[in-house]
Amino acid sequence: MAGDNQAMPRIVAAQMLAPDAKQFRIEAPKIARRHRAGQFVIVRVTPDGERIPLTIAASDAEAGTITLVVQAVGKTTMVMNDLDVGDEILDLAGPLGTPSEVDDFGTVVIVGGGVGTAVAYPVAVALREAGNRIIAVIGARNRSQLLFEHELAALPAEVHVCTDDGSYGRAGLVTDALQDVLAAESIDRVFAAGPIPMMKAVAEVTRAAGVTTIASLNPIMIDGTGMCGGCRVSVGGHNRFACLDGPEFDAHEVDFDLLASRNRAYLEGEAARRRELHPCEVTVQVGGGEST
Ligand code: NAD
Ligand code: FES
Repeated sequence: MAGDNQAMPRIVAAQMLAPDAKQFRIEAPKIARRHRAGQFVIVRVTPDGERIPLTIAASDAEAGTITLVVQAVGKTTMVMNDLDVGDEILDLAGPLGTPSEVDDFGTVVIVGGGVGTAVAYPVAVALREAGNRIIAVIGARNRSQLLFEHELAALPAEVHVCTDDGSYGRAGLVTDALQDVLAAESIDRVFAAGPIPMMKAVAEVTRAAGVTTIASLNPIMIDGTGMCGGCRVSVGGHNRFACLDGPEFDAHEVDFDLLASRNRAYLEGEAARRRELHPCEVTVQVGGGEST
């Protein structure tokens, strides 16, 4: 898989955004020039390591950099989050995936759950630039896990914050706040990125309200080129490859239960393979998490 440059991409800025989420700004001029909202890169950190899809949270074509947010959920993401300014990434392929549909829809609600907010943020930026009014509904387990609240407010967007433990904002799930927003005013479109149960719940709420909803899916990805079939999802009863046809799809048509079970199956297979290779190692990467 070709990298962005002959030289390995170098990290030029790094900071922890939450206890398990780190933001990196990485030199990748070709990717930065071509990137559009909704696209991702596939990253390899070590020669024998797995490839992980990571959504491009931002890009700066002039500076030649892209920004990635990595949640440490498994071996590869933990290794990546140990990297710091000056370190190099082994390879970085992209931008991959079909860009977000960006138009002046009117009022758009952006729903971000946990680290999924980093996936939703660039879409919010693009939709705002296209003239939409943005309402952001973002949620996290607690205040320390909340991402991009201030960046979204600066768009500007009306931001509704929810935490599971009530440590900040409203106590409850993003769907609680979403239901109130939908009841209060006319919404033209909803975009959701986060854990699969969240995206499924958002789709149920907006289906009832009759509002078009796009979800950014996070299946396991391997090659990112449509060859391996790893990222197959079912949308409207048809097989789709998230790496080529997505990762964004009509949330009302997505089979979220199949997506969840395929991710679980890979997880179990992966754990078994790792137990064979490294009997002492128990950590596994939960699929496509950082991506999408
Ligand atoms: P989390 O489990 O802490 O959930 C974040 C928020 O989502 C919660 O605070 C809640 O408001 C909402 N939520 C969760 N379950 C819900 C439900 N059943 N109904 C309604 N709302 C619900 O999230 P996290 O640990 O930061 O995220 C990790 C997960 O997100 C991983 O599974 C990862 O694979 C996934 N992820 C998805 C994407 C994507 O593109 N969709 C990107 C990155 C990560
Ligand atoms: Fe292999 Fe999409 S990741 S087909």
